[in-house]
Amino acid sequence: MSFRIFATCNIGEDALDRVRELGYDLEVFAEQEPPGKALILERVRGGIDGLITTLRDPIDREVFEAGRGTLRVVAQDAVGFDNIDRQAANDCGIPFTNTADVLTHATAEFAFFLLGAVSRKLYPSERIVRENRWSTWHPFLPILGDEVTGKTVAVIGTGRIGRAFAVKCTGFQMDILCCDGVEDRTFVSGLQELLDTQSSLGLSRRRCSASQVSFEEALERADYVSLHVPLLPETYHLIDAGALRRMKQSAYLINTSRGPVVDEQALCQALKERWIAGAALDVFEREPLPEDSPLRDPELTDRLRMFHHFASATRETRLSPDPEIGMAGRCVQGLIDVLEGNYGGDLRQMPYVVNKEAF
Ligand code: GLV
Repeated sequence: MSFRIFATCNIGEDALDRVRELGYDLEVFAEQEPPGKALILERVRGGIDGLITTLRDPIDREVFEAGRGTLRVVAQDAVGFDNIDRQAANDCGIPFTNTADVLTHATAEFAFFLLGAVSRKLYPSERIVRENRWSTWHPFLPILGDEVTGKTVAVIGTGRIGRAFAVKCTGFQMDILCCDGVEDRTFVSGLQELLDTQSSLGLSRRRCSASQVSFEEALERADYVSLHVPLLPETYHLIDAGALRRMKQSAYLINTSRGPVVDEQALCQALKERWIAGAALDVFEREPLPEDSPLRDPELTDRLRMFHHFASATRETRLSPDPEIGMAGRCVQGLIDVLEGNYGGDLRQMPYVVNKEAF
């Protein structure tokens, strides 16, 4: 059967070829900018069977209502789906899929690199070279960074990405504070075993620890606070003025999760008034970052690193058509599973369907 698909952007030709090879009628919105809701609605009202989306597309109740009875699947090319109205999808009986797992390590390693970049002042150092301000070698002038090895890191949210990040931190002999609403003793004791192995092999200077702690304790004890929570009503502005005030003055905040988890106004104040030492952000309350964002204040440049929602953006992770490797492959597989009725047509058995509760 030939299904009609609208992709709101080119998620990768090799993966989209899998859809074409099945004989589906595929329209790809080829611009770099998103198509906007009006065009999405027009296509959904036009009776498409499948909609391939990214986190830039507002897939709200109006879109789902327009697809009631015709739209069979929304396949999101991302792990996060805060742009999708889950309740509306459920009310309209439309499944949506995501690309969990395949971007875990790309995102976790990026979070770690941000931590290193802001702490070791990579950007200020590079600027010194580029701007020809490197006049001599000196023990501590013009700047020093903060060493990462042996410090304490708080992992806020220990889902897939938070865990992968925590494991990477063991390689830097860090004390690891895990913080999550759902306590996972097995994971924490696994981390402890890794740290103990390094210590017993003589690979670390001391025995490091992994522990489960409260949010408040994580903020108070950590040298680095890294956020790995989904955006939910309860995580909106999780890092507000009160949370920033609890952090050490020497601590850094890393956010690769979702922008609204951090209150940017409060963060600006915290950085300006030096409540904390610095921050590195890959995500923002509004993306792309508005021209007049206070985060652009040149006064903050030396202690605030900012990136363009780049964490999962590796060639492998973004583009591989293999659903075990790439977001594009997994996105397309989610779409195909639903349309072809794989898994005996049972949506609850399909690995990439998110809103299984509706079926
Ligand atoms: C990226 O932020 C994603 O959710 O995939």
